[in-house]
Amino acid sequence: MFTTPFLDLPPLRAAQGTVRLPGSKSISNRVLLLAGLSEGTTVVHDLLDSDDTRVMLDALRALGCGVEARGADWHITGLAGQLPVKSANLFLGNAGTAMRPLTAALAVLAATQQGTFELKGIPRMHERPIGDLIDALRQLGCPIDYLGNDGYPPLRLNAGTGPLDTSAPIRVRGDVSSQFLTALLLGLPLVSAHGPVTIAVDGELTSKPYIEITLNLLARFGIAVQRDGWQQFTIPQGSRYRSPGSIHVEGDASSASYFVALGAIAAFDGRAIRIEGVGDDSIQGDIRFVDAARAMGAQVSSGPGWLEVRRGAWPLKAIDLDCNHIPDAAMTLAVMALFATGTTRLTNIASWRVKETDRIAAMAIELRKLGATVVEGPDFIEIAAPARWDRAAIHTYDDHRVAMCFSLATFNPLAHPAGEVPVRILDPRCVGKTFPDYFETLFTVVEARTTDVPVLAIDGPTASGKGTLASAVAIALGYHFLDSGALYRATALAAMAAGVADTDEAGLAAAAAGLKLKFSGQQIWLGDTEVSDDLRQEHVGAMASRVSVFPAVREALRALQLSHRRLPGLVADGRDMGTVIFPGADLKVFVTASAAVRAERRYKQLISKGIPANIDSLRADLEARDLRDQSRTVAPLKPAEDAKLFDNSELSVDQCVARVLEWWNARQAF
Ligand code: DC
Repeated sequence: MFTTPFLDLPPLRAAQGTVRLPGSKSISNRVLLLAGLSEGTTVVHDLLDSDDTRVMLDALRALGCGVEARGADWHITGLAGQLPVKSANLFLGNAGTAMRPLTAALAVLAATQQGTFELKGIPRMHERPIGDLIDALRQLGCPIDYLGNDGYPPLRLNAGTGPLDTSAPIRVRGDVSSQFLTALLLGLPLVSAHGPVTIAVDGELTSKPYIEITLNLLARFGIAVQRDGWQQFTIPQGSRYRSPGSIHVEGDASSASYFVALGAIAAFDGRAIRIEGVGDDSIQGDIRFVDAARAMGAQVSSGPGWLEVRRGAWPLKAIDLDCNHIPDAAMTLAVMALFATGTTRLTNIASWRVKETDRIAAMAIELRKLGATVVEGPDFIEIAAPARWDRAAIHTYDDHRVAMCFSLATFNPLAHPAGEVPVRILDPRCVGKTFPDYFETLFTVVEARTTDVPVLAIDGPTASGKGTLASAVAIALGYHFLDSGALYRATALAAMAAGVADTDEAGLAAAAAGLKLKFSGQQIWLGDTEVSDDLRQEHVGAMASRVSVFPAVREALRALQLSHRRLPGLVADGRDMGTVIFPGADLKVFVTASAAVRAERRYKQLISKGIPANIDSLRADLEARDLRDQSRTVAPLKPAEDAKLFDNSELSVDQCVARVLEWWNARQAF
């Protein structure tokens, strides 16, 4: 997984394959809370592993619930309505699905069982309104203080002075966020012992499908809420949360939207995108995104737990859609609009303004950067595709969905008119909120032109530290890594094993062409034998240097080296990465260090592995090897003309990595 503060996506041209979705965020956090309030232990399968579920798990632990990971399952033992811990400070990140329901449940528990709880989050959480929920809880008699601004977290939920009053319907606004109603529905069964609890909704209820998820899951935990239209909900007297024993979390339907869109845009000529984890039996409202995608042109087939998507109409067709029923997935429609003829209009999306960020503003600004024409209003957005695509660095506002949906803009070569631009996603790890390995998953199903796949070439003499540097840079960028020296070393090893002399060019070339090399993590395998350590031996390196002077050997290894150029990118190290193998590399670095420094590094390396060494003879060997690598007639060791020369004698590995990443970042001209 890459760690850089940006991710550059090259222009992409097609997509096919199968993806498995992570669990739904909405279902995961509701299930966790319900399990935490229940009698008994609930085994939760396929829970989403993300920032938002992590804060919920931490909160349950702090409240005294049993929380245990067993393999891929979570075992949650609930409180059965009794507070074992009377006071706690809970940090809930930017998880609205944790903040709102925990506020409701803990407010009534604190009030009735003399507890005190403080709930806070990151600064953005403190800008997300919660006043309507607090007003509703205060009607019951829950004493709640705002610790910052009125109407917003952080909050303190206090001990009560008398019994809570459930005789009158609890009124809550439904037109800002359905999460307030969900929070009350999840929390108020706790106060149903003496009579039914009625919740009345003021205003038109927004995002109804999320309420359906809530009701569906409450039923799984033994609570049958009676619903009267969308205006009134009654929790029967004596409702008690009972664990269903085990429960499965279905894949996230909002996350599915990116792959449905991917299929509609890029799965053509017999290709298909298959999505596993969510299907036509889903209880999530965002599954209805499929209908919207169909209206734009997607061909979708489905069954229980799966969807399959192909391109249908092309270019896509603009739509005019009330998106109140699919608020989260509708962001994906805004990006699909970049591939449509006409103007797409998405309406009734006022709730976008109070999500992880002001999503209407965010989408408008970022879509315009790509060249789209955008009009925004208080509760709508209109998008017309770019007449000319611009390269853009997409700001993501700590909003996972902005990051995920804009990744689709990299298919601009398919649009009408077409673009040829890469897209930079800033702060790409914000996808951790719901889909931590989104980009890694995307890369398994997309196709690029080989020459568009970015390459960073790092060449230099032996023991210059280029291997360590290249592999660290590859990890930081999440790119593939090619240690080309290992290919020459493996050829040397294979030749020695087969008794081929180091002067026999044809025999050596045959050994190179027949290499059965496999790279897996830090290990290198030759056929069925792990040879990682053998390859690093001095005599193998020396033989590699002799072997590598032969043009036939170099030619035999060429295709194998080129084949490492795969999405999302490649960092290659060796002697001729920038000059011969990848002459068009996006960045070339030529690492040097004095012979004395390199001899010392090699010496330390060998000693640390328990291999005896002598520093003077190491230095003599190094200099001999330099001379041979530099003076051979084919692909001699020398910097490419456009390489950045980099003497790293005085620098630590981290400093070297930072320097190269800085150059890389600057090279991309966003
Ligand atoms: O980088 P290294 O020490 O593992 O390389 C071993 C030998 O392989 C080196 O002395 C020269 C040869 N080599 C090469 O000729 N071209 C490359 N791209 C990489 C290594």
